[in-house]
Amino acid sequence: MNLPSRVKLVEVGPRDGLQNEKQAVPASVKIELVQRLQQAGLKEIEVTSFVSPKWVPQMADNAEVMAGIERWPGVRYSVLTPNLQGFEAALKSRPDEIVVFGAASEAFSQKNINCSIAQSIERFAPVVLAARAAGIFVRGAMSCTVGCPYEGDIAPERVGYLAALMKGIGVQHVGVADTIGVGTPLKVQRAIEATLLHFGIDEISGHFHDTYGQALANTLAALQIGVWQFDTSVAGLGGCPYAKGATGNVASEDVVFMLDGLGIATGIDLGKLVDAGKFISDFLGRKPNSRAATAVLNKRLD
Ligand code: HMG
Ligand code: MG
Repeated sequence: MNLPSRVKLVEVGPRDGLQNEKQAVPASVKIELVQRLQQAGLKEIEVTSFVSPKWVPQMADNAEVMAGIERWPGVRYSVLTPNLQGFEAALKSRPDEIVVFGAASEAFSQKNINCSIAQSIERFAPVVLAARAAGIFVRGAMSCTVGCPYEGDIAPERVGYLAALMKGIGVQHVGVADTIGVGTPLKVQRAIEATLLHFGIDEISGHFHDTYGQALANTLAALQIGVWQFDTSVAGLGGCPYAKGATGNVASEDVVFMLDGLGIATGIDLGKLVDAGKFISDFLGRKPNSRAATAVLNKRLD
């Protein structure tokens, strides 16, 4: 197998992981989680989102969390910004990277951000312009690239269409997201290949939810076609409020265990990552949703 020699993980637990939690998670706990993640060696952390607090109440403390985290040199902190209002609010928090988020499916675009795909691109364009003028890197998340909770299967051409629109407005990197975790390895590879028509391999990451238990296999399938950047979520936290029934992202611990075994460098300490996952899982009152974390924790009891 021809696999990359190193992989970059973007930890999305504090954002994708917690956005769907019904119980209030205080800003202090989110700040502590970010701290533990950087102690584990994560160099990219998606901290929060500047979205409407009416739509996603859990992220209402975005500015407080961004103000409270300890900024480490060499670590990059990103936030979601769906429109100029969100971007302007985010700017005060000095993110290193912002994320505009669109969808390959019209119905999901409407449900998630209350506008069509075309309207979303119109809204993102001034955000991208302003961010790049301020020297902030712009990532685009592409939801529902293999399946949509409202429209079913999504053809790769629709992913290519969205990727072209994102490229056209100056987005620098795109994440190919399987929002509801229905992807299987070949389908995910087709979505990535459609994206590759518009973005280089170094400008693409995988973002795989694990609803059907396929996310690790999908990660390996993406690695096999050269993708080396992935969004993962500690303790497998997560889901999207507008993708009912979808579970969290692939667990960071599971991906790190697999990459360690493949001899692929991540710079992440699995033991410390498991500690970070246990910290947030204890707060939420449940066990980490990660097989590797469970195994490591059980082994510690021996
Ligand atoms: P809207 O209602 O169409 O916006 O929402 P609007 O411009 O008509 O404004 C209506 C109200 O919202 C106004 O307040 C605005 O001030 C306010 P009011 O006057 O009624 O009091 N508003 C905002 N407030 C705070 N921050 C903002 C903002 N914008 C408007 N940025 C909007 C449009 C996009 C804001 C809304 O639909 C929204 O917040 N949606 C939340 C979407 C979301 O966070 N989804 C989850 C993240 S995406 C995801 O998880 C997928 C991903 O992981 C990849 C994958 O797995 O697929 C990335
Ligand atoms: Mg997601």
